[in-house]
Amino acid sequence: MSVSDARIEAALDAGDPDIGTLWELCMLFEFDREETADGIAKWLGPAEGLRILDCACGSGFPALELIRRGYDVTCTDGSELMLTHFRRNARLEGLDVRPELMLWEDLPRRHAEGFDVVMNRGGGNYIYAGAWDDEGLADQAAMAEAIGQWVACVRPGGRFYVDITRAADLERREDQSVVHPTLLIGQHTVDIAETISIDRSTGIRTWSSTLTVDGTPWEFQRRSRYLRHDQLIEILKGCGLADVRKTPVAGEYYDIYTGVRT
Ligand SMILES: C[S@@+](CC[C@H](N)C(=O)[O-])C[C@H]1O[C@@H](n2cnc3c(N)ncnc32)[C@H](O)[C@@H]1O
Repeated sequence: MSVSDARIEAALDAGDPDIGTLWELCMLFEFDREETADGIAKWLGPAEGLRILDCACGSGFPALELIRRGYDVTCTDGSELMLTHFRRNARLEGLDVRPELMLWEDLPRRHAEGFDVVMNRGGGNYIYAGAWDDEGLADQAAMAEAIGQWVACVRPGGRFYVDITRAADLERREDQSVVHPTLLIGQHTVDIAETISIDRSTGIRTWSSTLTVDGTPWEFQRRSRYLRHDQLIEILKGCGLADVRKTPVAGEYYDIYTGVRT
């Protein structure tokens, strides 16, 4: 399968693949960036006067797409590695955006009540609280704490946007294994095999991937505990959000919950 995607091609050209390269590639299988950005923009409403924080901006989705659509998005992330991907993607998009390197724990001090909308999407990023770069394991208290730090940046009356693995996928007892079709991207041949397993006795979810670029395999593994939807809803309400609801957003691969800060 031949893929034309300047961002991913540039990531592959940049050198040895890392977790950011893998994430960029996985998005390719999960959703169409432009279609999803249109869906998010529809939920956001008119751009004028709206201050948005994407506090897990990662390699740039959906912040860069929203900025291109005229939104004022402040971008933060705790990983320099991911921001290297972000900056390269911003350059490719012709956008002059300076993301801030910032851990979630530092957000309330810097950005308390500073935004009309705070968003954090990417498959339930709270499960990686403090653990994206180093393969650690966040517990439920750490996840709730992280979500509280994001919500603290929403002004009273402002809106919050977060995602979570679809309920049916969290219910699965068997491993989910996928071998994606071989991709031809620029000069590169890419194969990805992924397995997601959930161990119900320990509550630990393991995402293992083998990314093979031009014949060289690279192994990645992220272990995390996970939240059920009802647990996420309780945490969101406990953080001072009202009108917490599952919100359909066209193009989103994960389930979305939104709320309004009281
Ligand atoms: C799965 S990526 C999602 C990126 C992007 N929002 C997207 O949808 O493509 C999760 C991001 O959360 C960031 N992250 C994880 N723990 C963090 C923390 N404690 N503080 C700040 N960012 C963190 C990671 O660096 C990573 O870029």
